[in-house]
Amino acid sequence: MHGPTPLEPMDRLSEEIGGPRIWLKRDDCTGLATGGNKTRKLEFLMAEAIEQNADTVVTYGAVQSNHARQTAAACAKLGLSCHLVLSERVRWPHPSYVRQGNVQLDKLFGAHLHICPVDDVATQRARLLQRFADAGRQVFEIPAGGSSLRGALGYSQCLQELVSQCDAQGIAHDMIVHASASAGTQAGLVFGRSLLDVDCHILGINVFHPDPQTLKGRIRQLAEDMFNAWPAVTALQPLQIDVNHAYLGDGYGLPTQACIEAITMAAQLEGVLFDPVYSGKALAAMIDQINLGNFSHLNDVVLVHTGGSASLSAYVDAFEA
Ligand SMILES: Cc1ncc(COP(=O)(O)O)c(C=O)c1O
Repeated sequence: MHGPTPLEPMDRLSEEIGGPRIWLKRDDCTGLATGGNKTRKLEFLMAEAIEQNADTVVTYGAVQSNHARQTAAACAKLGLSCHLVLSERVRWPHPSYVRQGNVQLDKLFGAHLHICPVDDVATQRARLLQRFADAGRQVFEIPAGGSSLRGALGYSQCLQELVSQCDAQGIAHDMIVHASASAGTQAGLVFGRSLLDVDCHILGINVFHPDPQTLKGRIRQLAEDMFNAWPAVTALQPLQIDVNHAYLGDGYGLPTQACIEAITMAAQLEGVLFDPVYSGKALAAMIDQINLGNFSHLNDVVLVHTGGSASLSAYVDAFEA
């Protein structure tokens, strides 16, 4: 990846809405195939694939998965065959959804796409794994979102990077906001916080789970499993897990009006692109929390930009409505 990613002020946006100075951790600039948070996870995951002499990678996601697109690019770079099992879990009825955005890029990177209903993912998976076993291929499987123990480490490293940037520039890191879905990003951050004894509040904005308790449970489980997997590291603080569920709207992959407005504001005031599934909902949440006065005690707030703008063209209808 390209790192450290920049930490930039959003001064025109901060001025527009008032409240603390907004800082953007530019993980949309991680450098691989238009960037995003999965590149940090893939640094660790692809190392694991190479360690295991894999020739084929299989991973999972929604049709417009950013994780799938970054995995496809990483496989292209490393000369591995890439199979993406993409589930039709989002009811976005426009033809652009299945042709443009990440889908177009997955194909450009030479990945093999297996698009299927959510209920068929297990069957597709079994069929593919059997096919590769019969052919004597060495498969490396990556869970949806790259949210394994090693993948999540990418975000512990991100926290360390962010804290040293804040310290060097005199920025307070009391509040760190980001979009949360498959738990790996938030588990990596909270694991890092505990391990490095960082004084900060990590606020995940739920953009995926109908029930936020499921997300909280997954984050806790993953972070605890990380401590169990590497017994040489010690928790210096209890795990802090905070998930805000107020910005999901009608569900995963369905843009809210506030999210479309927030994306438009960031584009027109800052020249930065956010997406309608993940980072745009986190941006909308942060703006709303500032407007509600919930961050009025802070000098600075950090928003981790986890990427996703590659899906914008798939959602053209949301912006034309
Ligand atoms: C752009 C973007 N932001 C945020 C997330 C959420 O990260 P995580 O799945 O690690 O919770 C994802 C992936 O799911 C993503 O693609």
